[in-house]
Amino acid sequence: MTLDEFQTEADRLRADALAAFDRASNADELEHARIQFLGDRSGQLRDVQAALGALPKEHKPIAGRAFNEVKQAITAAHEARSRALVRGRSAGAADLDLTMPARRMWQGARHPVTVVTDEIVEIFRELGFTIALGPHVETEWYNFGALNFPADHPAMDMHDTLYVRDDVLLRTHTSPVQVRTLQRHPPPIRILAPGDVFRRDFFDASHAPMFAQVEGLCVDEGVSFVDLKGMLSNFARRLLGPRTRTRFRPSYFPFTEPSAEMDVECQICQGVGCAVCKGTGWAEILGSGMVHPAVLTNVGVDAERYTGWAFGMGPGRIAMQRYDIPDIRLLYDSDVRFLGQMAE
Ligand code: DAH
Repeated sequence: MTLDEFQTEADRLRADALAAFDRASNADELEHARIQFLGDRSGQLRDVQAALGALPKEHKPIAGRAFNEVKQAITAAHEARSRALVRGRSAGAADLDLTMPARRMWQGARHPVTVVTDEIVEIFRELGFTIALGPHVETEWYNFGALNFPADHPAMDMHDTLYVRDDVLLRTHTSPVQVRTLQRHPPPIRILAPGDVFRRDFFDASHAPMFAQVEGLCVDEGVSFVDLKGMLSNFARRLLGPRTRTRFRPSYFPFTEPSAEMDVECQICQGVGCAVCKGTGWAEILGSGMVHPAVLTNVGVDAERYTGWAFGMGPGRIAMQRYDIPDIRLLYDSDVRFLGQMAE
């Protein structure tokens, strides 16, 4: 090979390499071109280097300089193209496929029971109630004894209890939070206790082994049944609409005297009578009553001086009424196809 031929060969290599790097539109293509020209084993630069070695001695200084120039030019061009591709990737270069379908974004929403619970809490918060929480695992005394359930009283039958061990159980209602609050705070007391409760029931359309309750308690001097009725019927109209009719029916709970259940006009049929309200036009939404003096005495509150009223309700039941849900299992199955229809 003559010096001229070598020079031509080196120039051609430079031109080809620069053009190939320019054409590379992504990192893979650029790497392919790098191997073709700069590759250690079979790169074209290596061939030119071999040709340089074979030149007569007197031509080597000039040819060597030319070779180094070409090598530097090709290496620099490769680096520049590589940087440009990285920059381009974040700025929307050709290898960014803007037509690719976007990944679906899942947006979470509150569970219907949570939506109703939050509304209940908000209404009572405006009336001066604060939140109190209690443990899921309770002793018999907190769940029953302090609440005036006599040992082996038939009222306990309503509460099929899950025992952890003798005397220790999963709370069957949120009423033990009344006891825990009264033990810690002297009246006046206005608390709301939302939480889950547990019963030894199998799942069916209207029963669940775990469900939500919201307990309310108000204890002060001079509190009467008028306060209970006024507060709870006002609450029903806040929650369900200003025209909602309510009615109170006498009932029995060991920890209240007198006791009453509050019904609201069935939300499905507006009081006409339907399958959900079993033709009555009414739906029971809570139990309530004046705190039994024995409960106050059990926790050391002066029952001569203080009176109180309390209630317990199931936000799940209210959600079933509101959203026309026929089966409680739908609320607790956690099927997002169902829950998504109720997302607020
Ligand atoms: N703890 C009762 C239950 O689970 C509900 C209840 C009724 C709570 C009357 C109360 C109340 O605070 O006054 O069935």
